[in-house]
Amino acid sequence: MKLIVALIQPHKLPDVKKALYDAEVYKMTVVNAVGSGQQKGYSEDYLGSIQEVNLRKKLRVEIAVNEESVESTIKAIIKGAQTGRIGDGKIFVLELPQCIRIRTGERGDIALG
Ligand SMILES: Nc1ncnc2c1ncn2[C@@H]1O[C@H](COP(=O)(O)OP(=O)(O)OP(=O)(O)O)[C@@H](O)[C@H]1O
Ligand SMILES: [Mg+2]
Repeated sequence: MKLIVALIQPHKLPDVKKALYDAEVYKMTVVNAVGSGQQKGYSEDYLGSIQEVNLRKKLRVEIAVNEESVESTIKAIIKGAQTGRIGDGKIFVLELPQCIRIRTGERGDIALG
């Protein structure tokens, strides 16, 4: 199992949700976040002197998936979130050792699925 964590531009959420839906991925958690990447949170044409990082609003989309859904989920996030401009976001893929459905006590793939 993997936990896919994507930081995306907030206005791309509808496109990302649609692409995930098309890939039959329906389970997700979306959290408000602030962050900065390699531009330190400034746009490419920023001309002032930088004193500190600038944290911009992002959404953190978390999706726990079985191994066979990892690539299709990543592709769907890219399809929905990519514009080709800086700040499009980033996807982290983490090992997920366990998942437990509280209602039934089921564990692992079956609890995730
Ligand atoms: N190395 C990192 N560690 C933690 N969070 C990160 C990292 N890189 C990016 N992020 C998160 O992802 C968000 C989007 O990053 P962003 O798309 O600007 O990445 P980038 O590496 O600067 O790429 P680009 O040059 O396309 O802008 C950031 O606001 C931050 O929340
Ligand atoms: Mg950036």
